[in-house]
Amino acid sequence: MATIMDGKALAAEIDKTTTVRIQRLADQGIVPGLVVILVGDDPASKIYVRNKERRAKKMKINSIVRNLPDTISEADLIKIIQTYNENPTIHAILVQLPLPAHINEFNVTNAIAPEKDADGFHPTNIGKLVINHTEKTPIACTPQGIMSIFNAYHIDLDGKKAVVVGRSTIVGKPMAALLVNANATVTVAHSHTHNLSQLTREADILVVAVGIAKYIKEADVKSDAVVIDVGMDRDVNGKLVGDVDFAEVERKASYITPVPKGVGPMTITTLISQTVALAEWSSE
Ligand code: GUN
Repeated sequence: MATIMDGKALAAEIDKTTTVRIQRLADQGIVPGLVVILVGDDPASKIYVRNKERRAKKMKINSIVRNLPDTISEADLIKIIQTYNENPTIHAILVQLPLPAHINEFNVTNAIAPEKDADGFHPTNIGKLVINHTEKTPIACTPQGIMSIFNAYHIDLDGKKAVVVGRSTIVGKPMAALLVNANATVTVAHSHTHNLSQLTREADILVVAVGIAKYIKEADVKSDAVVIDVGMDRDVNGKLVGDVDFAEVERKASYITPVPKGVGPMTITTLISQTVALAEWSSE
């Protein structure tokens, strides 16, 4: 049976360190400021934003949620972002994705000042990640949180075969870049990939971010693989499950993240820690 990697416990441990850093900033008269912009009322996005705000408040970060109507124009949204770019009490800006269809995601992420980019989605920051010039660079929170899990469980990535299933800008692509930077041999699979199961069965490290409940089965996984499940799906009974069939894959993997209490808590912990880092870097 696999070792279950406890993202919730690890997140709590990292939060303790972050709390010390927040106190250190408070001693200099600085309160990290995070603004989360939510356009429209997508139910999943509302839950994500509420969870982020709850954690930010608990950690004594100045967290502002801006709810904007889904009728807002791209130009008006960008104007609002620019006011936060210029506001010295705000250190981190996050625009929750996805955006309504009439708003271009690239134009919006590109409008966030790179030094206030809570998510690491600005093209400059993604470029720095790909180049592996990541000092004082914000990085996408979910993949970065997964790297913290690897680190905490002493998972050796060097020379390992890693397969990332999913090629999103939020998870798959930055995850692949981080794994390459850690000297893994990386394959990115997606909805057009032929013979997916054949690929995933070769993976020493398997990261799944496809958004389909229990998509990866025991037969898709190599014995003793390390399996990371980014999914937040609902099964037929409405229960929160991952992209990996946990009950099956747990029997075959060496390490596995559960859903819930796996990757999810690490994403928010990383966002908070990165917000604090942006505040620290701006005060240096
Ligand atoms: N939508 C789903 N995950 C994320 C995330 O990590 N950041 C943002 N901005 N939007 C998301």
